[in-house]
Amino acid sequence: MQTQDVIVIGGGVIGCSIAYYLAKKGADVVVLERDRIGAHASSAAAGMLGAQVEMAFPGPMSDLCFRSRAMFPELGRELYERTGLDIELNTAGLLRVAWDRTEAEELRDRARWQRELGGRAEWWETRSVREDEPEVRADITGALFLPDDAQVSAPRLTLAFARAAQALGVRLLEGCEVTGFLTDGDQVTGVETVVGTFRAGAVVLAAGAWSGVLARRLGLNLPVFPVKGESLALRPNRLPHRKTLFAHGCYLVPKADGRIVVGATEKEHDFSPGVSLGAIHRLAHEATRLVPSLAEADVLSYWSSVRPGSGDGLPLMGRLEAVRGLYVASGHFRNGILLSPITGALMAELISGTAVPELAPFSPDRLLESTARR
Ligand code: FAD
Ligand code: GLY
Repeated sequence: MQTQDVIVIGGGVIGCSIAYYLAKKGADVVVLERDRIGAHASSAAAGMLGAQVEMAFPGPMSDLCFRSRAMFPELGRELYERTGLDIELNTAGLLRVAWDRTEAEELRDRARWQRELGGRAEWWETRSVREDEPEVRADITGALFLPDDAQVSAPRLTLAFARAAQALGVRLLEGCEVTGFLTDGDQVTGVETVVGTFRAGAVVLAAGAWSGVLARRLGLNLPVFPVKGESLALRPNRLPHRKTLFAHGCYLVPKADGRIVVGATEKEHDFSPGVSLGAIHRLAHEATRLVPSLAEADVLSYWSSVRPGSGDGLPLMGRLEAVRGLYVASGHFRNGILLSPITGALMAELISGTAVPELAPFSPDRLLESTARR
């Protein structure tokens, strides 16, 4: 039996970020990871910080994304100083390409509200796009240039959070599957794992797409489910574009090591491993449609993982009314890399006892269909 202040279930980017920010506040934290740190979505991700490209309308989620994206330059320096790991922040910006006039009009509308919120967004006609990125196909209908939508190496970010947390005293236990919860009335007091039991004043459920499965062990119907994504990596002879390109059908993310990451499919409620031939075919088709010269690139690798989807598309972050001592940080769906710093910082505040009004729109209680307990 081991006792600490906080148990974090899940060693993905969300669990590791929360552990890091808690440790900065002096908390005694253990992260329990079933497989390896960053073994799942957090290393499969393309690493886009798409605060603008991924948001179709304004609201608390868009505000949170803007805030989190702004944390990266300082965070990158901080994590480098603590761990020597470079998260490879790339600030060349992103082009959200339109294939037709309807899409171009939607993107111009989006640019208007994003500018009102203080974001930068410029409409570029096709000629300007091709002057900047000549290998983009000529028959697009322009693109929205988002200079502040950046990208990082998702596996490095996850590892850097983990190592920085470890350097501050956090224990990271890999191969440690949580199999159940210890309770005392309506209070969670710890967890059972394959290697023994752990007790703590607070337990954070940050198990990505598996968070819903684990919550059921407490009789909670938490709507977090897998949304499988399949991707591939290409190695072109020379980098055909510097900016991230994002269109209906695919995105192309140029990485520091010369690879282009092509993503990604979306398959709801699918935990299956593997990558289908259909997915590779579709991604290859869309990638060469956008940048024809990619047809000459070598295929390096392909992979899949599961995004943590949520009932209404927004993350679940906060404590649960029905179960004292239990916190949830999950359901970040397509934006967990982007949202990892703000999630870690705000959850650490909350767990330390500070009121965090910014988290109210993301309260897990909004989605709890049944609080019937065992
Ligand atoms: P995970 O990384 O899945 O971590 C959860 C961890 O919990 C896992 O390691 C798992 O082993 C562990 N776990 C599960 N059950 C247990 C248990 N019982 N006991 C102990 N541990 C357990 N986001 C972006 O912001 N930008 C992108 O460009 C981007 N691209 C993506 C591309 C793809 C193909 C995919 C799949 C996702 C992408 N995402 C992107 C989304 C992002 O990857 C996720 O939102 C984020 O990684 C979720 O982090 P997490 O820590 O919640 O989940
Ligand atoms: N944000 C990109 C993806 O989830 O595929």
